Amino acid sequence: MTHFSGATLFVYRHLTVAGSRHIIVNVMSRLVVVTNRVPAADELARLELGSVAVGGLVSAVKSMMLRQRGLWLGWSGRSTSRGRPAAPGATHSAGPVDLVTIDLTEDEFNLYYTGFSNRTLWPLLHGFVERVSIRRELYRAYQRINRRFAETLFPMLRHDDLVWVHDYQLFLVGQYLRQAGWKGKLGHFLHVPFPAPEIFDILPWGPEILRGLMYYDQVGVHTADYQQNLARALAAETDGNWDGSIFSRGRDATRIGVYPIGIDPDEFQGPSRFSAPSLSDVLSLPPGPDNKIIVGVDRLDYTKGIPLRLRAFNRMLERHPTMRGKVTFIQISAPSRTRVPEYVKEREDVEMLVGQINGKFSERGWAPISYLYRFFPQHDLARFYHDADVGMVTPLRDGMNLIAKEFVAAQGEDPGVLVLSRFSGAAVEMVDALIVNPYDIDGTSEALYAALRMPETERIERWRSMMKVVNRTTAEKWGESFVADLERGTEGETE
Ligand code: G6P
Repeated sequence: MTHFSGATLFVYRHLTVAGSRHIIVNVMSRLVVVTNRVPAADELARLELGSVAVGGLVSAVKSMMLRQRGLWLGWSGRSTSRGRPAAPGATHSAGPVDLVTIDLTEDEFNLYYTGFSNRTLWPLLHGFVERVSIRRELYRAYQRINRRFAETLFPMLRHDDLVWVHDYQLFLVGQYLRQAGWKGKLGHFLHVPFPAPEIFDILPWGPEILRGLMYYDQVGVHTADYQQNLARALAAETDGNWDGSIFSRGRDATRIGVYPIGIDPDEFQGPSRFSAPSLSDVLSLPPGPDNKIIVGVDRLDYTKGIPLRLRAFNRMLERHPTMRGKVTFIQISAPSRTRVPEYVKEREDVEMLVGQINGKFSERGWAPISYLYRFFPQHDLARFYHDADVGMVTPLRDGMNLIAKEFVAAQGEDPGVLVLSRFSGAAVEMVDALIVNPYDIDGTSEALYAALRMPETERIERWRSMMKVVNRTTAEKWGESFVADLERGTEGETE
C-alpha cells in the first residue's frame, strides 16, 4: 500500500528536468495516471529521458509527470512464469512520482498484452483488418487484467483525485473502477487512431468496449477525425446524443475532446545533444557537403510503413542516378513487441529489403542504407535528427507520431526537411512538412528528391512554421488542457 505525503499534493508546473525553474501551482486534486507500460522506477527517480522504444505515450506522460507529484500505476514489464504474480501493486518511490506496478504471469502477458492488445485492438484501431485476431480467450484475459488494474488502484484513491487512464490496452479500467465504487473524476486518452465505425464493427466485443467508454467523464483523442469516428460509433451503438463535444445518454455524459499530444521541445534543443556522437561518427560516413543524410526512426512496427519508405528511397535512386553515392539513408528501428508474430515477420521483411537495395546500389566506399536495429537514448536521437538533411516519417496510419515533432525541434540553423505521411495525426498540424501518401511510392520518391534539393530559404520558412506548432502543442500543454477540462466537468454543458 502506498503512503502519500500531505492532504493535498501539488502540481509543480514549469519544473524543468534540469530543475532550474520551480513555480508551484496549487491544484486541489492529485493526478493519478494509469498506463499499461511505465518507465523503470530508477529512470523516473533520476528524471532520465527515454528512448524511442517506449513510444509516444510513455514519453509524453513521463514528461508531464516529471513536472508534478502524483501516482502512476502500470505493468512492471515483468512476466512471472506461473501462478499469480508475486507482488500485485508493488510501490516504488520514483522521484516526484509514486509508481505502483503490477506483474503479469506469462499466460496473462500472452493473452492480454501480446494477444488482445496487440493482435486484436492494435491492428483494428489502425485499420489493418486482415491482421485482426478474434479470439474469445484473448478478450476474457483483457477483461480480467483491466479489472485487476482497477481493483489494485481503487483502495489507493482519495475522493478528490483525478484519475486518467491511457490507451487501448486499458479501455475497460474506467468501467471496473466505477463498479468498484469510484465516484470521482475519470478520464481516458486514446493515443492511437479511432477508426471509422464500419471497421470497429468487426470486433464482436466492440459494443461492450464502447459502453465501457461511457463510464469515463472525458475521452481524449488526437484529431477531429478520430473524435468524429468515436462519436459515430457511440451513436450507432447506443441511443445517445452527440452535440459536437459531449456524448450524452440519459444522465451520463462523456466529453470527447481533441487534445493533440506534443513533446518537450527543450529536450531536443539543449546543448546536451552536441555531446552525443554524430551520425557520421556512429556510421563512419564520409564527411562533405555532397553527402546528404536521410533519417527514419521508428519502433519496428508494420504500421510505420518502413518497407514502403525503403522502396521509395530505392525508386529515388533508380530515377535519379546522380544521387547515387551522395545520399545515405539511416533507418533506426527500435525492437518492439518481439513476441508478436506479425512483428517478427516485419523485421524479416525490412532486413531483406535493406539487403536487396544495398546489394543493388552499393559502390566502393558507399552503401545506400545503414540499418540499425537497436535502442538509442533520446539525446543521441536529438543529435541524429539535427545532423540529418531529411527526416522521413511515413507511417501507414499513426495516432500522432511524435518523431515528426522531435525531428523539427532538433533542427536549428540550416534546418532539415520533414517528409511526413498524410496518415499520421501529426500531418493535421504540421502542414508545412512535405506531405506524402506512403502507399504512392513514385510520389514519395519525388518528394524525397525535392526534400534533398530544397533551397535554404524554403527550408527555413517551412521549419519556422512547423516549430511554431511544436512550441504551441507541447506535452505540458497537452496534459494541462486535458486535466483542466476533466476538472471542469461536463455539467452545464449538456442540454
Ligand atoms: C504506442 C502505444 C503505446 C505503447 C507504445 C509502445 O505508442 O500507443 O500504448 O506503449 O506504442 O508499445 P509497447 O507495446 O512496447 O508498450
